[in-house]
Amino acid sequence: MRIDVLTLFPEMFSGVLGSSILKRAADHVSDPADPHDPAKVRPPVVEYHLTNIRDYTDNKHNKVDRPPFGGGPGMVIQCQPVWDAVMAVEAQDARRATRILTSPQGEPLTQSIADELATHDRLLIIAGHYEGIDQRVIDKLAPIRKVSIGDYVLSGGELPAMVMIDSIVRLLPGALGDDTSTEHESFAAGADGLLDYPHYTKPRTWMDMEVPEVLLSGNHAAIEQWRKEQAMERTRQRRPDLLK
Ligand code: ADE
Repeated sequence: MRIDVLTLFPEMFSGVLGSSILKRAADHVSDPADPHDPAKVRPPVVEYHLTNIRDYTDNKHNKVDRPPFGGGPGMVIQCQPVWDAVMAVEAQDARRATRILTSPQGEPLTQSIADELATHDRLLIIAGHYEGIDQRVIDKLAPIRKVSIGDYVLSGGELPAMVMIDSIVRLLPGALGDDTSTEHESFAAGADGLLDYPHYTKPRTWMDMEVPEVLLSGNHAAIEQWRKEQAMERTRQRRPDLLK
């Protein structure tokens, strides 16, 4: 998958895309059992391309935003730099990009939207900023999916873009060490839409607190049954809306 991000603040992305699973997904990864065999190197499962919208302004002051027509607070990003940036970036690769705009007015991001977006070859995410982007360029870029990460307002679309990228890239085959590890998480299809069950590891006793006995029993059917009950109980208590 290729992911393009158009933003006024590309520097915000380096820590997130350059660490942990998102970094590993963009790297060549050798097989730990055979680290010197080039045939066993897993190629990158994703490429990130960051573009600064400001690089595409056609005015000599490098301005990208102007006050809104009709008055009101804040500034509005102009059509021209956004349009030119999208056209230039899309021309860099023959794969057709699925266009996404981060916006608090978008459809709320859910696991099923992440699952669906993870099937695309190429995503182009525009991180909205300030009071917004001139509506005409958004209309002209149709079809463009507007996605929100929740009912609260952030100061820009960069964090939402990173949240979306994380939720998508970790689903790509080969991104996690073990491909089955996304199957039973909260909201995953394999978890029946329930919250995840609680997890425990060594030591067996910590501050006088014990690990639930069933997890030490070696009885896999009983463990599975216990986890199902825990997931159901947590969901009932914390997110009854998911059971409707
Ligand atoms: N931009 C500002 N707030 C946002 C949100 N909650 N989701 C997506 N983009 C945003």
